[in-house]
Amino acid sequence: MLINRPRRNRKSAAIRDLVQETNLSVNDFIFPMFVMEGSGIKSEIKSMPNIYRFSLDTLIEEIKEVTDLGIKSICLFPNYPESKKDKYATESHNPNTLYIKALSEIKNKFPDLALMTDIAMDPYSSDGHDGLVENGQILNDETLDILGKMALAQARAGADILGPSDMMDGRIGYIRELLDDEGFTNVSIMSYSVKYASAFYGPFRDALDSAPKFGDKKTYQMNPANVREALIEGQLDAAEGADFLMVKPAFSYLDVIKTMADNFDLPIAAYNVSGEYAMIKAAAQNGWLDGDKAMLEMLLSIKRAGAKIILSYFAKEYAQLKA
Ligand code: PBG
Repeated sequence: MLINRPRRNRKSAAIRDLVQETNLSVNDFIFPMFVMEGSGIKSEIKSMPNIYRFSLDTLIEEIKEVTDLGIKSICLFPNYPESKKDKYATESHNPNTLYIKALSEIKNKFPDLALMTDIAMDPYSSDGHDGLVENGQILNDETLDILGKMALAQARAGADILGPSDMMDGRIGYIRELLDDEGFTNVSIMSYSVKYASAFYGPFRDALDSAPKFGDKKTYQMNPANVREALIEGQLDAAEGADFLMVKPAFSYLDVIKTMADNFDLPIAAYNVSGEYAMIKAAAQNGWLDGDKAMLEMLLSIKRAGAKIILSYFAKEYAQLKA
């Protein structure tokens, strides 16, 4: 006689819903969006179907649509022309630059939105690296000064959550102290704590035209083979004052998300990156996968692994599907 029949708890949709352990909600998402110079522009990113670079005017319309769908948080990234880039990413903290202007306009028009930023040099760097380059080396401490200026410019523009994505050592503490000194004690930091040197960022670098001009990012981003190292990064960032710890990418790193969730009480975020999005889109376009189902399964897996917050290009489609 079979006493235990786990299938009994799967016998109807109603019972399956009762025993379902993980649920996604639109509250879990941060929607990454791209802004570029110009007006009237909505330009699709070739390797990211249905994701666009917007000029500020069309971006505002898009944010209206996205917030009407129930999304409450976005993360903004800029695309700059080569002519605006230099070795020191000077444009990144110019108070009149597109990115800073976009942040303040968004915050003015959507005061309730949680507006997250990106802090790293790569969108503005002629070297295409997240830090300052000298003789082929990425300098750590010299980069902190530039990141700090970006952080202050973004805080002044009204950003709610700053997102240092650069992986320099000590930047969370450095930025926290600067913010506090300037009275921005309420501005949050979501640290890209555990960010791997990943092939899955390819489509994002297309979106920003930000691929490194030489070499790779392996001296600052983590080796995909390592998980113990994630604890070191997490401990430092928590001690330095991070409000959220992020793991990136998400889908190939579910064990890392779980490790972080098991070891830290801070909310864990995961970045479902551009390459993860592109894979599902490409397979769906070929008729090889059911795109909606694959999306939901991928997002659910990330949450089940322990991410409370998911940054995902699927956020809008998820919200549309649930609407
Ligand atoms: C760089 C940055 C990257 C992403 C966010 N910020 C790429 C990189 O490190 O080269 C990737 C996001 C994605 O792939 O969706 N500061």
